[in-house]
Amino acid sequence: MKDALLALDQGTTSTRAILHDAALVPRATAQSPLEQHYPSPGWVEHEPEEIWRASLGVLKDALAQGGVAAAGVAGIGITNQRETTLLWDRATGRAIHRAIVWQDRRTAAHCARLVSAGAAAAITGKTGLLCDPYFSATKLAWLLDHLPGARAAAERGELAFGTVDSFLLWRLTGGRVHATDATNACRTMLYDIRRGDWDDDLLQLFRIPRAVLPRIMDCAAEFGTTDPALLGAAVPIRGIAGDQHAATLGQACFAPGMVKSTYGTGCFALLNTGDAPVASRNRLLTTLAWQLGGKRTYALEGAIFIAGAAVQWLRDGLKLIADAAETGTLARQADAAQNVVFVPAFVGLGAPHWDAEARGAIFGLTRGTGPAEIARAALEAVAFQTRDLIEAMEADWSASGAQRVLRVDGGMVASDWTMQFLSDLLGAPVDRPVVQETTALGAAYLAGLQAGLLPPPGPSVAHWRLERRFTPRMPREEADRRYALWKDAVRRVLSG
Ligand code: G3P
Repeated sequence: MKDALLALDQGTTSTRAILHDAALVPRATAQSPLEQHYPSPGWVEHEPEEIWRASLGVLKDALAQGGVAAAGVAGIGITNQRETTLLWDRATGRAIHRAIVWQDRRTAAHCARLVSAGAAAAITGKTGLLCDPYFSATKLAWLLDHLPGARAAAERGELAFGTVDSFLLWRLTGGRVHATDATNACRTMLYDIRRGDWDDDLLQLFRIPRAVLPRIMDCAAEFGTTDPALLGAAVPIRGIAGDQHAATLGQACFAPGMVKSTYGTGCFALLNTGDAPVASRNRLLTTLAWQLGGKRTYALEGAIFIAGAAVQWLRDGLKLIADAAETGTLARQADAAQNVVFVPAFVGLGAPHWDAEARGAIFGLTRGTGPAEIARAALEAVAFQTRDLIEAMEADWSASGAQRVLRVDGGMVASDWTMQFLSDLLGAPVDRPVVQETTALGAAYLAGLQAGLLPPPGPSVAHWRLERRFTPRMPREEADRRYALWKDAVRRVLSG
């Protein structure tokens, strides 16, 4: 039967393929870590060939593990780390530089110049984004300006730009398709979220030749078929969405007012705001939730750059722990009365502060502070930052009076301690689903939707099931007291 759905999730630190059956039950998973390159302070790069080799490798492994031939796959859904920027030669298919990763701050000065020149309001008005090095536009401009001959080659139409989805689509189709989906396009800072297209004024502002840009498509579409030599059969690619958008679909946040938060390297919360974009007064991003059948659904997004990465730093940098899972045990043992606050602003702060120059700090250290208190503070920081986002969302969009429930996913949600603290701090229920790989789930859903195996977003979609609901136990005064300590600590790390 041709009804398996294969999700390819190319993330910041790993590449995964998950084979789902037609009911969206995960059947086999393959994963490969991705090396990070830090050529200069604040710079982060990935090797495009490693991304490609790992992607093809995990696709093959997941098929082999699931005992499914490529001919039995109804569709591939691609989901990816967003904003990460690649530029490749159309003739050879080879990238002309390493991928510049979303966390990379090398274009902070370019963004600052645009802000000083008064361009910020126009950029936000069209794109829903804030003028920040996080997004692709200044990264692409950097490549065109710094690589000898790149600008001229781009103008001659010899180079192709893409986010990771687009690069993988190009490679999977044997160089036949240069396209992206609307959710990835909306993170480039070159896309008008109301018109749903590349914007000429923005292209001029960032000096980007139109010839490098991919075609923008719906999230569920016939993107092309894989080169038969790669997987043993021509498999249709039927879904593409940026990872946070795919996770919103995987979390079945289909109705306006529903919100999900994904805890991976960073943390990204998306609130579905329905069919009209909502401008933020609190420095959140206005973004697409998805585009299906030519119709755009919008979201407010809060992006935090460091969540799980703080735990990784405890493990790999400080060597305080051997395994990320130890943090929960340590947090339970910690002396809560110590009031240690850890602001993990390693690469600046994202929403709602957007301070590229802020740096991390740990406050409240005493002679009694040990690994347990620091581990606890790292986990607490995730909850404090989520509360920053949720409060900004509530202030921006109060259309529903109902109490907000937060749907959570990503590696960190395995920690019961962290999820309980999150619920305590928010004073709201936190729902953890059975399938926590919601990013891949969303990508598989898109492929299944396009293949006609699954219904459009709505009540008849059955892939979301609750595993555990966490409800607040901490007294509100205590939660608020702790949150006030966090706010004070953040004020002290801001650069301005
Ligand atoms: O915007 C960046 C985001 O898409 C990266 O997500 O899960 O790879 O950390 P993740």
